[in-house]
Amino acid sequence: MSTPTLALVGLSQTERSMLFEQITALDPDAVAPLERARFGGAPGWLVSDAALARTVLTNGIGVKSRPAASQFKLGGVGARQGREVRSLKRELLLALGSLAEQEDLVHKHVAAALGAREGVLPTGLTEALTSATISLVTGTAPGSVDQTGLRNQVMQTWTLIEDANATGSRHDAFYIYLRGLLSASGSTFLSSLEARGWRREQIAEELRAMILAGWGSTAAAITSAISLGVAADLRGAFVLDEVLRLYPPSFMIGRTVAESRRGLPFERGEILLISPWLIHRSSRGWRAPLDFDPERWKDRRPGTPRWFLPFGLGPRRCPAARFARTQAQVTGSLLCTVRRPDRTEVVLLENRSPALVPAAR
Ligand code: HEM
Repeated sequence: MSTPTLALVGLSQTERSMLFEQITALDPDAVAPLERARFGGAPGWLVSDAALARTVLTNGIGVKSRPAASQFKLGGVGARQGREVRSLKRELLLALGSLAEQEDLVHKHVAAALGAREGVLPTGLTEALTSATISLVTGTAPGSVDQTGLRNQVMQTWTLIEDANATGSRHDAFYIYLRGLLSASGSTFLSSLEARGWRREQIAEELRAMILAGWGSTAAAITSAISLGVAADLRGAFVLDEVLRLYPPSFMIGRTVAESRRGLPFERGEILLISPWLIHRSSRGWRAPLDFDPERWKDRRPGTPRWFLPFGLGPRRCPAARFARTQAQVTGSLLCTVRRPDRTEVVLLENRSPALVPAAR
């Protein structure tokens, strides 16, 4: 008898909220660590085991499952392959890491971007935080980025990237806008990359891809923290980790198998869906996994626990992890007086990042 196959929708952006519903409807303890699945008809596997996820993400079995044309239009380090990725990623990590250490500066840019909304759960938290990131990395004045214009630019750019039939260039209106901001100024981020031989055009292209890749993720984490009543405590040991565990802003990481490997059942061309949502909620990895309990981290040995991968793993790991943590902590302290909602629900913010939000009714 053949093994039953889990029928899921595809991985495209338009199917994302349906995929999220399907994933959250699964019982993390009932799915097999490696479950055969079809994604909109294409064969593949759902990976909800930490060790297997690590194997897939760290040893180059798969490439990102975004279609090649769309990946090309997205540009930046995500569009590159092979050895080059490691060195570029290291340089980006260093440049973003240098910002993560300057908490006062991060604070200044976030506070200016939140403006009068400080203290109330802001609508538009995504564009506020992204505009703060842009003014910080480009070295332009805090609060100077037009947030409505930014949202419009990002939405238009994503639409072109996702549309398989649309021709598009990485050097589009959004790129030209960012390139313009870079020419007027300087920052530790820019000098760190320029010292390593990056040209401003390359930095603008990377920045464009970074803004698109990170869109909504940090806002989702902060919204969850507010809804859990812990925005003020994100600096406390493990509170942010526990928010990222229970409500990981990336609920799925997609790969397409590039080569089969001995000892693993994957075949070339198959889709692999690694789900931090399921991995973070499995009782194979966590005691009482559905409880929000920062204390649980105290019993763990130092270092990242194996069943925790909110920023991914391996060569494609999020280069902004440290920076995002600092920005989340700073923003949490600025929004600490926002009232915790009485009733909450989980939604997909920006159609991509799970977050605990005030219930609609
Ligand atoms: C709490 C906030 C964030 C979370 C949880 C998060 C999570 C992730 C994850 C899981 C990946 C890996 C995707 C994969 O393996 O395919 C990733 C990649 C990436 N993230 Fe983040 N991210 C966050 C914030 C940000 C921010 C603020 C930025 C930019 C300023 C950013 C830029 C990127 C980029 C450029 C990549 C692609 C790296 C590559 O393709 O090699 N992220 N992120």
